[in-house]
Amino acid sequence: MPAATVVGVGELSPPVASYAASFRQLSDLYLLAEGGYAPIRKFLNSVETRSVCQSMHLTTGEPWSIPPVFPIDSVTRARLASADQVVLMDGDAPAGILRIEDIFPLEKDLYADTVFRTSDGSHPGVRWLAGAGPYSIAGTVELFPEWELDVPGSLPISPRDTAALIGDRGWETVVGFQTRNPIHRAHEFCTKIALETADGLVIHPVLGETKPDDTPPEVRLACYDVLLRNYYSPDYVMLAGFPGWMRYAGPREAVFHAQIRKNYGMTHFIVGRDHAGVGSHYGPFDAHRIFSEFLPGEIGIEPIFFDFVHYCRTCEGMASKKTCAHPREHRVHLSGSELRRMLREGRMPPREFTRPEVAEILISASREVS
Ligand code: ADX
Repeated sequence: MPAATVVGVGELSPPVASYAASFRQLSDLYLLAEGGYAPIRKFLNSVETRSVCQSMHLTTGEPWSIPPVFPIDSVTRARLASADQVVLMDGDAPAGILRIEDIFPLEKDLYADTVFRTSDGSHPGVRWLAGAGPYSIAGTVELFPEWELDVPGSLPISPRDTAALIGDRGWETVVGFQTRNPIHRAHEFCTKIALETADGLVIHPVLGETKPDDTPPEVRLACYDVLLRNYYSPDYVMLAGFPGWMRYAGPREAVFHAQIRKNYGMTHFIVGRDHAGVGSHYGPFDAHRIFSEFLPGEIGIEPIFFDFVHYCRTCEGMASKKTCAHPREHRVHLSGSELRRMLREGRMPPREFTRPEVAEILISASREVS
Protein backbone atom coordinates (compact mmCIF):
# COMPACT_ATOMS: atom_id res chain seq x y z
CA MET A 1 0.00 0.00 0.00
CA PRO A 2 1.57 3.34 -0.99
CA ALA A 3 2.13 5.89 1.79
CA ALA A 4 -0.40 8.69 2.16
CA THR A 5 0.61 11.96 0.57
CA VAL A 6 1.13 14.66 3.18
CA VAL A 7 2.09 18.28 3.06
CA GLY A 8 3.10 20.81 5.72
CA VAL A 9 1.05 24.02 5.98
CA GLY A 10 4.30 25.98 5.91
CA GLU A 11 5.20 24.60 2.47
CA LEU A 12 2.36 26.55 0.87
CA SER A 13 3.15 29.85 -0.76
CA PRO A 14 0.53 32.40 0.37
CA PRO A 15 -2.07 33.54 -0.39
CA VAL A 16 -3.97 30.26 -0.62
CA ALA A 17 -7.73 30.05 -0.97
CA SER A 18 -9.63 27.95 1.53
CA TYR A 19 -12.91 26.08 1.39
CA ALA A 20 -15.16 24.75 4.18
CA ALA A 21 -15.48 21.10 3.17
CA SER A 22 -18.49 18.99 4.08
CA PHE A 23 -18.15 15.70 5.99
CA ARG A 24 -18.75 13.84 2.72
CA GLN A 25 -16.03 15.82 0.94
CA LEU A 26 -13.65 15.18 3.84
CA SER A 27 -14.38 11.44 3.64
CA ASP A 28 -13.57 11.45 -0.06
CA LEU A 29 -10.44 13.57 0.51
CA TYR A 30 -9.25 11.08 3.13
CA LEU A 31 -9.98 7.99 1.04
CA LEU A 32 -8.37 9.43 -2.09
CA ALA A 33 -5.22 10.48 -0.23
CA GLU A 34 -4.94 7.23 1.74
CA GLY A 35 -5.34 4.94 -1.27
CA GLY A 36 -8.89 3.81 -0.48
CA TYR A 37 -9.99 4.67 -4.01
CA ALA A 38 -6.87 3.32 -5.76
CA PRO A 39 -6.17 3.42 -8.66
CA ILE A 40 -7.92 6.81 -8.41
CA ARG A 41 -5.88 9.41 -6.53
CA LYS A 42 -7.73 12.58 -7.47
CA PHE A 43 -11.16 14.12 -7.80
CA LEU A 44 -11.97 13.25 -11.40
CA ASN A 45 -12.18 15.66 -14.32
CA SER A 46 -15.14 15.80 -16.70
CA VAL A 47 -13.72 13.27 -19.19
CA GLU A 48 -12.97 10.68 -16.49
CA THR A 49 -16.29 11.34 -14.73
CA ARG A 50 -18.17 10.76 -17.98
CA SER A 51 -16.12 7.66 -18.73
CA VAL A 52 -16.89 6.13 -15.32
CA CYS A 53 -20.58 7.06 -15.59
CA GLN A 54 -20.95 5.64 -19.08
CA SER A 55 -18.67 2.62 -19.05
CA MET A 56 -17.75 1.85 -15.43
CA HIS A 57 -14.12 2.24 -16.52
CA LEU A 58 -11.54 5.01 -16.40
CA THR A 59 -10.14 6.13 -19.75
CA THR A 60 -7.05 4.07 -18.87
CA GLY A 61 -9.26 0.97 -18.92
CA GLU A 62 -9.34 0.27 -15.18
CA PRO A 63 -12.73 -0.58 -13.70
CA TRP A 64 -14.45 1.94 -11.43
CA SER A 65 -18.16 2.47 -10.83
CA ILE A 66 -18.75 5.71 -8.88
CA PRO A 67 -16.76 8.83 -9.81
CA PRO A 68 -15.35 10.82 -6.89
CA VAL A 69 -16.32 14.42 -7.65
CA PHE A 70 -16.04 17.65 -5.66
CA PRO A 71 -19.19 19.72 -6.26
CA ILE A 72 -19.07 23.46 -5.58
CA ASP A 73 -21.51 26.32 -6.13
CA SER A 74 -21.15 29.19 -8.64
CA VAL A 75 -19.89 31.66 -6.02
CA THR A 76 -17.05 29.30 -5.05
CA ARG A 77 -16.26 28.67 -8.68
CA ALA A 78 -15.90 32.43 -9.26
CA ARG A 79 -13.78 32.77 -6.10
CA LEU A 80 -11.44 29.97 -7.19
CA ALA A 81 -11.32 30.96 -10.86
CA SER A 82 -7.64 31.94 -10.78
CA ALA A 83 -6.53 29.68 -7.90
CA ASP A 84 -4.35 26.67 -8.57
CA GLN A 85 -4.89 25.12 -5.15
CA VAL A 86 -7.35 25.32 -2.29
CA VAL A 87 -6.99 24.35 1.37
CA LEU A 88 -9.89 22.14 2.40
CA MET A 89 -10.98 23.07 5.91
CA ASP A 90 -12.51 20.71 8.47
CA GLY A 91 -14.10 23.36 10.66
CA ASP A 92 -11.13 25.42 11.87
CA ALA A 93 -8.57 22.75 10.98
CA PRO A 94 -6.84 22.59 7.61
CA ALA A 95 -7.43 19.04 6.39
CA GLY A 96 -5.68 18.92 3.04
CA ILE A 97 -4.86 20.57 -0.23
CA LEU A 98 -6.76 20.17 -3.45
CA ARG A 99 -4.54 21.13 -6.39
CA ILE A 100 -6.98 22.47 -8.94
CA GLU A 101 -6.56 21.04 -12.45
CA ASP A 102 -9.98 22.09 -13.73
CA ILE A 103 -13.39 23.28 -12.63
CA PHE A 104 -16.11 21.89 -14.86
CA PRO A 105 -19.92 21.76 -15.05
CA LEU A 106 -21.13 18.54 -13.46
CA GLU A 107 -23.33 16.49 -15.80
CA LYS A 108 -25.86 15.75 -13.08
CA ASP A 109 -28.45 14.03 -15.29
CA LEU A 110 -25.84 11.66 -16.67
CA TYR A 111 -24.48 11.01 -13.17
CA ALA A 112 -27.95 10.30 -11.72
CA ASP A 113 -29.15 8.14 -14.63
CA THR A 114 -26.01 5.99 -14.70
CA VAL A 115 -24.75 5.84 -11.11
CA PHE A 116 -28.13 5.90 -9.32
CA ARG A 117 -30.06 4.45 -12.30
CA THR A 118 -32.84 6.94 -11.55
CA SER A 119 -33.65 10.63 -11.55
CA ASP A 120 -36.31 10.18 -8.85
CA GLY A 121 -35.89 12.89 -6.20
CA SER A 122 -36.94 10.47 -3.46
CA HIS A 123 -33.62 8.64 -3.92
CA PRO A 124 -31.13 9.98 -1.32
CA GLY A 125 -28.24 9.96 -3.80
CA VAL A 126 -30.26 11.86 -6.39
CA ARG A 127 -31.30 14.30 -3.66
CA TRP A 128 -27.66 14.85 -2.68
CA LEU A 129 -26.73 15.48 -6.31
CA ALA A 130 -29.65 17.86 -6.88
CA GLY A 131 -28.62 19.87 -3.80
CA ALA A 132 -24.91 19.87 -4.71
CA GLY A 133 -23.31 22.76 -6.59
CA PRO A 134 -23.38 22.75 -10.40
CA TYR A 135 -19.57 22.65 -10.83
CA SER A 136 -16.93 20.20 -9.73
CA ILE A 137 -13.24 20.65 -8.97
CA ALA A 138 -10.84 18.14 -10.53
CA GLY A 139 -7.42 17.68 -9.01
CA THR A 140 -4.99 15.75 -6.85
CA VAL A 141 -5.12 15.87 -3.06
CA GLU A 142 -2.70 15.83 -0.16
CA LEU A 143 -3.39 15.64 3.57
CA PHE A 144 -1.92 17.76 6.35
CA PRO A 145 -0.17 15.38 8.75
CA GLU A 146 -1.82 16.92 11.83
CA TRP A 147 -5.30 16.28 10.49
CA GLU A 148 -7.39 13.22 11.29
CA LEU A 149 -10.77 12.42 9.85
CA ASP A 150 -13.23 12.63 12.71
CA VAL A 151 -15.38 9.51 12.66
CA PRO A 152 -17.13 7.92 15.66
CA GLY A 153 -15.29 5.26 17.67
CA SER A 154 -11.62 4.35 17.72
CA LEU A 155 -11.45 1.66 15.06
CA PRO A 156 -8.66 1.57 12.47
CA ILE A 157 -9.96 3.39 9.39
CA SER A 158 -6.99 3.67 7.05
CA PRO A 159 -6.46 1.15 4.25
CA ARG A 160 -2.80 0.79 5.22
CA ASP A 161 -3.42 0.17 8.93
CA THR A 162 -6.22 -2.28 8.22
CA ALA A 163 -4.19 -4.19 5.65
CA ALA A 164 -1.27 -4.28 8.11
CA LEU A 165 -3.51 -5.69 10.87
CA ILE A 166 -4.74 -8.34 8.44
CA GLY A 167 -1.10 -9.12 7.61
CA ASP A 168 -0.25 -9.42 11.34
CA ARG A 169 -2.95 -12.04 11.69
CA GLY A 170 -1.41 -14.01 8.83
CA TRP A 171 -4.69 -14.25 6.96
CA GLU A 172 -4.40 -14.88 3.23
CA THR A 173 -8.07 -15.16 2.34
CA VAL A 174 -10.10 -12.42 4.01
CA VAL A 175 -13.81 -11.79 3.69
CA GLY A 176 -14.99 -8.18 3.91
CA PHE A 177 -18.46 -7.34 5.19
CA GLN A 178 -19.87 -3.91 4.42
CA THR A 179 -22.77 -2.75 6.57
CA ARG A 180 -24.63 0.41 7.45
CA ASN A 181 -26.94 -1.35 9.91
CA PRO A 182 -26.79 -3.04 13.28
CA ILE A 183 -25.93 -6.67 12.54
CA HIS A 184 -29.02 -8.86 12.60
CA ARG A 185 -29.25 -12.63 12.27
CA ALA A 186 -29.25 -12.66 8.45
CA HIS A 187 -26.07 -10.56 8.40
CA GLU A 188 -24.53 -12.82 11.03
CA PHE A 189 -25.39 -15.91 8.99
CA CYS A 190 -23.85 -14.47 5.77
CA THR A 191 -20.63 -13.48 7.55
CA LYS A 192 -20.26 -16.83 9.29
CA ILE A 193 -20.98 -18.91 6.20
CA ALA A 194 -18.43 -16.87 4.24
CA LEU A 195 -15.89 -17.11 7.06
CA GLU A 196 -16.13 -20.92 6.96
CA THR A 197 -14.42 -20.73 3.55
CA ALA A 198 -11.73 -18.13 4.42
CA ASP A 199 -8.93 -17.45 6.92
CA GLY A 200 -10.54 -14.37 8.44
CA LEU A 201 -13.46 -11.94 8.40
CA VAL A 202 -13.36 -8.14 8.59
CA ILE A 203 -16.62 -6.55 9.66
CA HIS A 204 -16.31 -3.17 8.02
CA PRO A 205 -19.17 -0.81 8.91
CA VAL A 206 -19.70 2.57 7.28
CA LEU A 207 -18.64 5.38 9.63
CA GLY A 208 -19.15 8.25 7.18
CA GLU A 209 -22.46 9.92 6.49
CA THR A 210 -25.63 7.83 6.17
CA LYS A 211 -29.33 8.76 5.85
CA PRO A 212 -30.74 10.48 8.94
CA ASP A 213 -33.14 7.59 9.55
CA ASP A 214 -30.38 4.95 9.50
CA THR A 215 -29.16 3.80 12.93
CA PRO A 216 -26.48 6.28 14.15
CA PRO A 217 -22.90 4.94 14.05
CA GLU A 218 -22.37 5.30 17.82
CA VAL A 219 -25.32 2.98 18.44
CA ARG A 220 -24.18 0.54 15.76
CA LEU A 221 -20.69 0.44 17.21
CA ALA A 222 -22.11 -0.62 20.59
CA CYS A 223 -24.10 -3.34 18.80
CA TYR A 224 -21.05 -4.63 16.87
CA ASP A 225 -19.04 -4.69 20.06
CA VAL A 226 -21.55 -6.77 22.04
CA LEU A 227 -22.15 -9.09 19.11
CA LEU A 228 -18.46 -9.72 18.49
CA ARG A 229 -17.85 -10.38 22.18
CA ASN A 230 -20.70 -12.86 22.46
CA TYR A 231 -21.17 -14.52 19.09
CA TYR A 232 -17.94 -14.37 17.04
CA SER A 233 -14.55 -15.93 17.47
CA PRO A 234 -11.95 -13.17 18.09
CA ASP A 235 -9.13 -15.14 16.48
CA TYR A 236 -10.93 -15.11 13.16
CA VAL A 237 -12.84 -11.83 13.15
CA MET A 238 -11.70 -8.21 13.10
CA LEU A 239 -13.77 -5.05 13.39
CA ALA A 240 -12.48 -2.07 11.41
CA GLY A 241 -14.14 1.12 10.18
CA PHE A 242 -14.94 2.31 6.68
CA PRO A 243 -14.89 6.12 6.70
CA GLY A 244 -16.78 6.48 3.40
CA TRP A 245 -20.32 7.79 3.00
CA MET A 246 -23.33 5.94 1.70
CA ARG A 247 -24.55 6.80 -1.80
CA TYR A 248 -27.38 4.21 -1.79
CA ALA A 249 -26.43 3.46 -5.40
CA GLY A 250 -27.25 -0.25 -5.10
CA PRO A 251 -25.42 -2.24 -7.82
CA ARG A 252 -22.89 0.48 -8.68
CA GLU A 253 -22.10 0.87 -5.00
CA ALA A 254 -21.63 -2.88 -4.57
CA VAL A 255 -18.77 -2.76 -7.11
CA PHE A 256 -17.42 0.45 -5.52
CA HIS A 257 -17.55 -1.13 -2.05
CA ALA A 258 -15.81 -4.26 -3.31
CA GLN A 259 -12.94 -2.37 -4.99
CA ILE A 260 -12.41 -0.24 -1.89
CA ARG A 261 -12.28 -3.35 0.32
CA LYS A 262 -9.59 -4.76 -1.97
CA ASN A 263 -7.58 -1.62 -1.14
CA TYR A 264 -8.11 -2.42 2.56
CA GLY A 265 -6.49 -5.83 2.10
CA MET A 266 -9.54 -8.04 1.72
CA THR A 267 -9.72 -10.79 -0.89
CA HIS A 268 -13.44 -11.62 -0.81
CA PHE A 269 -16.51 -9.43 -0.40
CA ILE A 270 -20.06 -10.26 0.65
CA VAL A 271 -22.85 -9.01 -1.60
CA GLY A 272 -26.27 -10.02 -0.33
CA ARG A 273 -29.81 -9.03 -1.06
CA ASP A 274 -30.30 -5.44 -2.28
CA HIS A 275 -26.75 -4.41 -1.33
CA ALA A 276 -26.58 -0.64 -0.66
CA GLY A 277 -30.13 -0.34 -1.92
CA VAL A 278 -32.84 1.99 -0.76
CA GLY A 279 -36.64 1.80 -1.08
CA SER A 280 -37.55 -0.16 -4.18
CA HIS A 281 -35.12 1.56 -6.53
CA TYR A 282 -33.22 -1.64 -7.33
CA GLY A 283 -34.11 -5.27 -7.89
CA PRO A 284 -33.01 -7.47 -4.95
CA PHE A 285 -30.21 -9.07 -7.00
CA ASP A 286 -29.19 -6.26 -9.36
CA ALA A 287 -26.07 -5.90 -7.19
CA HIS A 288 -25.13 -9.51 -8.04
CA ARG A 289 -25.75 -9.17 -11.76
CA ILE A 290 -23.61 -6.06 -12.21
CA PHE A 291 -20.43 -8.07 -11.47
CA SER A 292 -20.98 -10.08 -14.67
CA GLU A 293 -20.45 -6.85 -16.64
CA PHE A 294 -16.75 -7.11 -15.76
CA LEU A 295 -14.18 -9.60 -17.00
CA PRO A 296 -13.28 -12.44 -14.61
CA GLY A 297 -10.72 -11.12 -12.13
CA GLU A 298 -11.03 -7.54 -13.37
CA ILE A 299 -12.36 -6.14 -10.07
CA GLY A 300 -9.49 -7.78 -8.18
CA ILE A 301 -11.61 -9.06 -5.28
CA GLU A 302 -13.94 -12.04 -5.28
CA PRO A 303 -17.61 -11.28 -4.61
CA ILE A 304 -19.51 -13.82 -2.51
CA PHE A 305 -23.18 -13.64 -3.38
CA PHE A 306 -25.95 -14.42 -0.91
CA ASP A 307 -29.60 -15.01 -1.67
CA PHE A 308 -32.29 -13.61 0.63
CA VAL A 309 -31.55 -15.10 4.06
CA HIS A 310 -34.31 -15.71 6.64
CA TYR A 311 -34.97 -17.68 9.81
CA CYS A 312 -37.19 -20.72 9.27
CA ARG A 313 -39.19 -21.93 12.31
CA THR A 314 -39.51 -25.41 10.84
CA CYS A 315 -35.83 -25.80 9.93
CA GLU A 316 -35.03 -24.08 13.24
CA GLY A 317 -32.25 -22.07 11.72
CA MET A 318 -31.14 -19.45 9.23
CA ALA A 319 -31.58 -20.41 5.60
CA SER A 320 -32.25 -19.15 2.11
CA LYS A 321 -34.41 -20.58 -0.65
CA LYS A 322 -31.41 -22.73 -1.58
CA THR A 323 -31.47 -24.48 1.79
CA CYS A 324 -35.13 -24.27 2.85
CA ALA A 325 -38.27 -24.90 0.82
CA HIS A 326 -40.81 -24.11 3.52
CA PRO A 327 -43.49 -21.54 2.71
CA ARG A 328 -43.35 -17.90 3.81
CA GLU A 329 -45.53 -18.43 6.91
CA HIS A 330 -42.72 -20.51 8.43
CA ARG A 331 -40.28 -17.61 8.26
CA VAL A 332 -39.53 -14.88 10.77
CA HIS A 333 -39.58 -11.65 8.87
CA LEU A 334 -39.69 -8.06 10.14
CA SER A 335 -39.97 -5.00 7.95
CA GLY A 336 -37.79 -2.03 8.87
CA SER A 337 -40.80 0.02 10.02
CA GLU A 338 -42.17 -2.88 12.09
CA LEU A 339 -38.77 -3.26 13.75
CA ARG A 340 -38.52 0.47 14.48
CA ARG A 341 -42.02 0.46 16.02
CA MET A 342 -41.18 -2.48 18.29
CA LEU A 343 -37.96 -0.82 19.42
CA ARG A 344 -39.68 2.48 20.12
CA GLU A 345 -42.31 0.69 22.20
CA GLY A 346 -39.57 -1.13 24.11
CA ARG A 347 -40.66 -4.53 22.82
CA MET A 348 -38.00 -7.14 22.07
CA PRO A 349 -37.87 -8.17 18.42
CA PRO A 350 -37.85 -11.98 18.04
CA ARG A 351 -34.46 -13.46 18.94
CA GLU A 352 -34.53 -15.26 15.58
CA PHE A 353 -34.29 -11.81 14.01
CA THR A 354 -31.94 -9.92 16.33
CA ARG A 355 -29.74 -11.16 19.16
CA PRO A 356 -31.25 -9.96 22.50
CA GLU A 357 -28.03 -8.13 23.50
CA VAL A 358 -28.25 -6.11 20.27
CA ALA A 359 -32.00 -5.55 20.69
CA GLU A 360 -31.44 -4.13 24.19
CA ILE A 361 -29.00 -1.53 22.87
CA LEU A 362 -31.37 -0.60 20.05
CA ILE A 363 -34.34 -0.32 22.43
CA SER A 364 -32.53 1.99 24.82
CA ALA A 365 -31.19 4.09 21.92
CA SER A 366 -34.65 4.51 20.41
CA ARG A 367 -36.07 5.45 23.87
CA GLU A 368 -33.42 8.17 24.15
CA VAL A 369 -34.46 9.78 20.84
CA SER A 370 -38.25 9.46 21.32
S1 ADX B 1 -25.92 -2.06 3.05
O1 ADX B 1 -26.46 -0.77 2.60
O2 ADX B 1 -24.67 -1.93 3.76
O3 ADX B 1 -25.88 -3.05 1.96
P1 ADX B 1 -26.96 -3.69 5.20
O4 ADX B 1 -26.05 -3.23 6.26
O5 ADX B 1 -28.35 -4.01 5.62
O6 ADX B 1 -27.05 -2.58 4.08
O7 ADX B 1 -26.41 -4.96 4.47
C1 ADX B 1 -25.10 -5.44 4.59
C2 ADX B 1 -24.92 -6.63 3.66
O8 ADX B 1 -25.81 -7.69 4.05
C3 ADX B 1 -25.25 -6.37 2.20
O9 ADX B 1 -24.39 -7.12 1.36
C4 ADX B 1 -26.68 -6.84 2.06
O10 ADX B 1 -26.97 -7.21 0.73
C5 ADX B 1 -26.65 -8.07 2.97
N1 ADX B 1 -27.99 -8.42 3.52
C6 ADX B 1 -28.74 -7.69 4.38
N2 ADX B 1 -29.88 -8.36 4.72
C7 ADX B 1 -29.84 -9.55 4.04
C8 ADX B 1 -30.72 -10.68 3.96
N3 ADX B 1 -31.85 -10.78 4.66
N4 ADX B 1 -30.34 -11.71 3.14
C9 ADX B 1 -29.18 -11.66 2.44
N5 ADX B 1 -28.32 -10.62 2.49
C10 ADX B 1 -28.63 -9.58 3.29
